[in-house]
Amino acid sequence: MRITVIGTGYVGAVTGACLAYLGHRVTCIDTDESKIARLRRGEPTIYEPHLAELLQLAAARGGIDFDTDLSAATAASDVIFIAVGTPSLPSGEANLQYLEAAARSIGAAMDARRFRVVVNKSTVPVGSGNLVGTLVREGIEDARPKERASIRFGVASNPEFLREGSAIADSLYPDRIVTGAAERETLAVMQELYRPLVEQDFDPPPGVPRPAGMERVPMVTTTLTSAEMIKYAANAFLAMKIGFANEIANICEHVGAEAPEVMTGIGLDSRIGARFLSPGVGWGGSCFGKDVLALLHTAREYGYDSRLLRASIDVNSAQRQMVIQKLQEKLFILKGRTVGLLGLAFKPDTDDLRDAPSLHIAERLLQMGARVKAYDPIAMTACREQRPDLRIRFCESAQDLANESDALVLVTEWAEFRDLDLTALARVMTRPILVDGRNLFAPDAARAAGFDYTGIGRPQSPAAKIAIEHTA
Ligand SMILES: NC(=O)c1ccc[n+]([C@@H]2O[C@H](COP(=O)([O-])OP(=O)(O)OC[C@H]3O[C@@H](n4cnc5c(N)ncnc54)[C@H](O)[C@@H]3O)[C@@H](O)[C@H]2O)c1
Repeated sequence: MRITVIGTGYVGAVTGACLAYLGHRVTCIDTDESKIARLRRGEPTIYEPHLAELLQLAAARGGIDFDTDLSAATAASDVIFIAVGTPSLPSGEANLQYLEAAARSIGAAMDARRFRVVVNKSTVPVGSGNLVGTLVREGIEDARPKERASIRFGVASNPEFLREGSAIADSLYPDRIVTGAAERETLAVMQELYRPLVEQDFDPPPGVPRPAGMERVPMVTTTLTSAEMIKYAANAFLAMKIGFANEIANICEHVGAEAPEVMTGIGLDSRIGARFLSPGVGWGGSCFGKDVLALLHTAREYGYDSRLLRASIDVNSAQRQMVIQKLQEKLFILKGRTVGLLGLAFKPDTDDLRDAPSLHIAERLLQMGARVKAYDPIAMTACREQRPDLRIRFCESAQDLANESDALVLVTEWAEFRDLDLTALARVMTRPILVDGRNLFAPDAARAAGFDYTGIGRPQSPAAKIAIEHTA
């Protein structure tokens, strides 16, 4: 099929590359000329494992191209994806200005030569499918008033569930595909588009193997409104699940229980499931905060105050503050101390810094007069560009970061941090204090390496406590 993808960010670039890999003919559009120039040179504009290779494969067989103007591609396409950003407004409401501009331009580019489906992949509040339909129609009426009755299109909502860092695998081997639409003709186009994914009859690309036992992907077809709601409900649930793990971890610290043990114990319950139960410095990223706020806002528009969603936001904000408290407990005064952040990206394997806990922690430390240093394997360039206001000293390596620091805070659990020589790090620090914000290290090993170690939901020394109780 001929496909246009509008927006070449984390979702659009991956969607375009994967659909082209599956054999569709894709044009990716972005209003940002520098992004299009880089993509034309074969350079991804984001860090995402395997994306560069997939784009190269697609380009080599003529399956993908890039443009700043959507008119020609839209006119030639059967399916037009909208994958532009929908960031939060100060009220928490989703900012739909990019979506609205894209929808109008799509309408203006349509003619009567074929039936087209406009697919909303951006995360948008309930009711936005109707809005897209209205805007496309207005675009048609402005550009081709005489032909408007003969120009046919359908609107589908096809929320995206990929995770940055594993976006290619998540797109090629999804848990499910959700498609909402009002008419059969639109759904039939979507079913045809996703047939290779549903049937899993394509050869996996190098480095991204198909999970064992995966034969078919369920396609859930719903109304437009349900599809939009599914995306928000999924993100709200995941944010709440992490928030729950953090709440329990905080109580574990008080009562002397080991949170990782507790999470293993509850995660083995098939009704609960083990994933998204790791206590830490709180969730971040471009989606959870924005989407929970947007859902709260939508509920409020209907006179419903969702206390559970509000609590998810509050619990997460408090969790980020826990790191500061732990540093205060160890260092007492933060003014003039040097704190090294291990990791900046909101999670490993991405350079995305949107709503990253590291930035919040750095801001608070700087406000309190501390000096902040940071090392991240990938996200330092993005941090320099996006947050020049933060006076962070960027370091060449974890060892450089540790040098003369008063404390280290592990913020992002990059795989390379697992293998750090903790003894060598502790040796060069002014005070060997380690706040392990992701429970990455074994407490005993970190202490044996010379660190004064604190994790999340891990009481100081449960073994010592037990020994004392037994002696008493
Ligand atoms: N990032 C994720 O992990 C993720 C996962 C699932 C869903 N989503 C949702 O997908 C959407 C896109 O997210 P993202 O992270 O890819 O955003 P992004 O900010 O990385 O990319 C958006 C892109 O759209 C471009 N753009 C804006 N207006 C445009 C227009 N009128 N025409 C063409 N291009 C335009 C921007 O220049 C930018 O490159 C959001 O609604 C987000 O909530 C994101």
